[in-house]
Amino acid sequence: MFKVGARSLLSLVVLSCLALVPILSRPCDSATQTPPTQLPGLNALLMGADWYPEQWPEERWETDLQMMEASHLNVARIAEFAWSRMEPSEGHYQFDWLNHAVRLAEKHHVAIVLGTPTAAPPAWLTQKYPETLRLEANGQRVTHGNRAHGSVTSVKYREFCQRIAEEMAKRFGHDTNVVGWQIDNEYGYALMSYNDEARQQFHAWLKAKYKTLDALNEHWTTSYWSQTYDDWNEIPIPVGEHNPGLMLDWQHFVTDAWASYQQNQIEAIRAHADPRQFITGNFMGYKFSGFDHYIVARPLTFVAWDDYVGTGHLDPDTNGISHDTMRGLKRENIWIIETQPGSVNWSALNNSLDKGEVRAMAWHDVGHGADEVSYWQWRSALNGQEEIHGTLLGPDGKPVPLLDEVATTAKEFASLQDAFRDSRVVSEVAILNDYDSHWAIDWQKHTEKYDQFAILKNYYHALRTISQSIDIVSADAPLDQYKLVVAPDLYLIPKTRAEHLEEFAKNGGHLVLGPRSGVKDEFNALLPIPQPGYLAEPLGAQVEQYYALEKSIPASGRLGQGEISVWAERLKPNAPDTEVLLTFGPSNGWLDGRPAIVSRAYGRGRITYIGGVLDSSLMQSVAQWMSTSSNISPAFGVVPEGIEANRRMGPKGTVYVLINFKTQGQTVALPHVMRSLLDQKEASKLELPPYGVAVLADPPRRDAPKQPRL
Ligand code: GAL
Repeated sequence: MFKVGARSLLSLVVLSCLALVPILSRPCDSATQTPPTQLPGLNALLMGADWYPEQWPEERWETDLQMMEASHLNVARIAEFAWSRMEPSEGHYQFDWLNHAVRLAEKHHVAIVLGTPTAAPPAWLTQKYPETLRLEANGQRVTHGNRAHGSVTSVKYREFCQRIAEEMAKRFGHDTNVVGWQIDNEYGYALMSYNDEARQQFHAWLKAKYKTLDALNEHWTTSYWSQTYDDWNEIPIPVGEHNPGLMLDWQHFVTDAWASYQQNQIEAIRAHADPRQFITGNFMGYKFSGFDHYIVARPLTFVAWDDYVGTGHLDPDTNGISHDTMRGLKRENIWIIETQPGSVNWSALNNSLDKGEVRAMAWHDVGHGADEVSYWQWRSALNGQEEIHGTLLGPDGKPVPLLDEVATTAKEFASLQDAFRDSRVVSEVAILNDYDSHWAIDWQKHTEKYDQFAILKNYYHALRTISQSIDIVSADAPLDQYKLVVAPDLYLIPKTRAEHLEEFAKNGGHLVLGPRSGVKDEFNALLPIPQPGYLAEPLGAQVEQYYALEKSIPASGRLGQGEISVWAERLKPNAPDTEVLLTFGPSNGWLDGRPAIVSRAYGRGRITYIGGVLDSSLMQSVAQWMSTSSNISPAFGVVPEGIEANRRMGPKGTVYVLINFKTQGQTVALPHVMRSLLDQKEASKLELPPYGVAVLADPPRRDAPKQPRL
């Protein structure tokens, strides 16, 4: 169970002082057998479309729904941009049209998810109450006509958002065909208003956190550059480069502002809705870190995210990292509430995914824990910023060529759904993720070559190839189910976090820390002890100095040989039993012959420190050592390069999803005879064409890894 962190309590105090709705923490509920993503009475795997009936004459709606039904689509998300239609003038609500759409959908067995329309307020609202519009950092007020123009910190705007959510819930909270709610749209952008209202709320938030300016000045070390504050009102909203303590607190404030904005609507809906209706939000994957997603995801029933490739083709590692991160937010299955029907309209080159790739992508989603996939969008508006975007129907209302592939996949989802019921991804390896550390490193990268995503991907690729299943979870999440836990660059390791990680190793886990670990405390201040801070003692080693590298340097030792680039740290063993596993070759003099990787048995487990960014083949051999020494077994078994193996486990047994991402066909030998569910055959070997998919079933095993329980 997630702890109620000091931060949540803080926001509860501050935001309720401001008469905004407090954040309430709710434990994850995956202790039940059925994941909350699988809805009572519906297939365990669902496929749908994002549909905008308000853009079309009512006479057309039934044709759309008939076509969805014929294409085996069973969910539609609607209304998230229809505020001006639902509240055409202040306080006057019109829901009959929406009810008509919901009833027609019901007739065609299409379950409805209602979006609250608060990402696009109507013109009458922003005209009459201009303070609801965001002020950009440059002092300019955003104009009406785009979206995400409402200010999350505007008390007035929140009143309107709460009211529309409430009115919708009064009308549809008990509707049998409404299965759930999506709050707003893609608020992970976390756009803020830089106005006085936001600034005053930030000051109140800081006051509640620090109580005295002396405490704030001390934690931010404001004696530096005469930054000392004598009055709360002197504190700026940071724009551009600023004091790192101030910047981190601003990010925490941003997180709490969005969490409480979301909570405002959750409570308005919950007051009138059946508990069976879920509430989710559509996040945007790993790379969107506008706020701390662990905090914002907490009160949602489950996490949904919008999965777009943009230019190019699906990279299973890049997409897998996002899936595994989103699944890790609540450590529970997810929905893909928007995905690309071939192409988008917003990238540098809006190429289409290849024939077969959309199907492969949908199964990739399921393999990584998704129980629903919806295409954005069914049919595009005839005008508007996104009129040239991938769709399932053309402007003429007829299917585009891709609809056939989507319909085939939807039919497969429906016919195989039973095998996935109550199943989840279960991993022995976790990678730790921490928004504070991401922000802090990015603010002071020290070398522009330091690319946190590339560094993570290097670990992910190597470890996933071996283990075939990885969870990406918060650095503070329970870790008992894992054998191996890797933190690629966990910059902030305050004492409690260090104790948590130390405990994991003590209890038999293998903790691996990458470079830049354990540099800072929770205020984003440097720790006045050697890196990796509170973990230096259990590790039996410390970092003596770090170096941003101009060029790569050789390294060799028991774990192989290769190159280290971008970043290197000179390590010094402090305990007699600390082993040196890799050593730097000649470089800048400071690093020559010094340890690059050290490891020490600790308690019943082990702690390892990697002092540099490894090249991919060195990473592969280090990952092999980490996995072998941690007794990791592959989730499926050996597969040729380019085949991705995924595993989901449930009471009925184990299901594997194998996908060939190579442009040539490949043969896969199965570890033993399995049932191939797509063609209903027993198989010991498979031929997978390019983008080919196989779904394989194994009955329950007695030695299967335990399902995680919170
Ligand atoms: C998403 C957004 C949708 C649509 C889509 C286009 O980010 O939520 O409303 O704009 O992009 O790719």
